[in-house]
Amino acid sequence: MTRNPWPVTRHEAADEPIVCRCEEITLSQVERAIAEGYDTLEELKRHLRAGMGPCQGRTCLPLLARILARKTGRPLEQVFSSVSVRPPLAPAPVTLFLGGEDEG
Ligand code: FES
Repeated sequence: MTRNPWPVTRHEAADEPIVCRCEEITLSQVERAIAEGYDTLEELKRHLRAGMGPCQGRTCLPLLARILARKTGRPLEQVFSSVSVRPPLAPAPVTLFLGGEDEG
């Protein structure tokens, strides 16, 4: 694999897999946090700030949950049940909340 001479992020330069692109959280950071005892999705979010970037975890929370499930041996459903998801999950037109018609 040819290495990009102009890496986009500092982690790309180290060829380290990134779990959360918004907050630049790497796989090794996640694994280290789990080894230190942060063994729920909510604890990992708060400790690493994964899932708190502009996409609000749409990209990284499923990855984080799978890593946590694999490392702890817990079922994925149990891992996901510990996280609080805040609405709205997708952009919505303001008119939706005002009771008007969507002109788009
Ligand atoms: S990829 Fe983690 S918050 Fe966006």
